[in-house]
Amino acid sequence: MTQALEDFLRRLDREIRAAGDWGEVADYIPELARIDPAQFGIAVALPGGGVLTAGQAGQRFSIQSVSKVFSLACVLGRIGEQIWTRVGREPSGRRFDSILLLEQEQGRPHNPFINAGALVTTDELVTGRAPKEALAEILGFLRAAAEDDDIHIDKAVARSETETGYRNVALANYLKSFGNLKNAPEITLGTYFHQCAIEMSCVQLARAGRVIAGLPGTPQMLTPLKARRISALMMMCGHYDGSGDFAFRVGLPGKSGVGGGILLIAPGRASIAIWSPGLNGYGNSRMGSYAAERLARETGWSVFA
Ligand code: DON
Repeated sequence: MTQALEDFLRRLDREIRAAGDWGEVADYIPELARIDPAQFGIAVALPGGGVLTAGQAGQRFSIQSVSKVFSLACVLGRIGEQIWTRVGREPSGRRFDSILLLEQEQGRPHNPFINAGALVTTDELVTGRAPKEALAEILGFLRAAAEDDDIHIDKAVARSETETGYRNVALANYLKSFGNLKNAPEITLGTYFHQCAIEMSCVQLARAGRVIAGLPGTPQMLTPLKARRISALMMMCGHYDGSGDFAFRVGLPGKSGVGGGILLIAPGRASIAIWSPGLNGYGNSRMGSYAAERLARETGWSVFA
């Protein structure tokens, strides 16, 4: 299985490079707009500690919204179920940065993975302490889960989004007007932009995802119930208004980021990180989504058995 899987990953890498159908990089964050879309990496962490890789699996990239999975994990550890009074658990069917539903839902965002919901989660993490302490908790979680201390924030990306993140500024102010932001909008926003600017390689991200996949032999940082629930949210909401199509094609929980990363969870079997910075129309990695679909078919991994 391992050799066959490794061979498949190599073939997939070659095929994707030959196709050259990369999509467009995110351009609303200037620092991300400079990245060459023609890149691809994949890492598959397996039970027992092995990690199979192909392409640029060691290249660091901006994890962006993939960080929302780990800020949620931290908040569940901090206040548990109480978070659900402030944010829902339903797919939004809207773009990741949509403000449309927020008025209808009276400032309680549909889920913790759209930007409005992630701002609420981060707001909870920064309540009662300094932003750098909240960020240290998220980084600490990632480092412990990946068993790798060399995970950091790319300050240039954080600065870039701070300068141009007008929609997030609008969302944070709107949340505040509904009483669903405990801190000053600029405090929550600053923490959120830095959390999104964490950079990791596919190998590091796949290793961090093992705690959600519940792989034997990995750090016990989440109860099985929490891991299952985070996976359920990833399946329903992890690709925004592209979540249904992703579930249909791939059949595994996944979380995307506009840096082109995807974390894919095959519960009990593997934690997979894929990176290709060109995006599709939903703001999800174009070739990353394709690779996820191919991998799920090749391995037969699916939560639908
Ligand atoms: O808040 C934003 O717009 C970005 N920092 C993150 C958005 C994102 O990654 C959406 N994912 N596909």
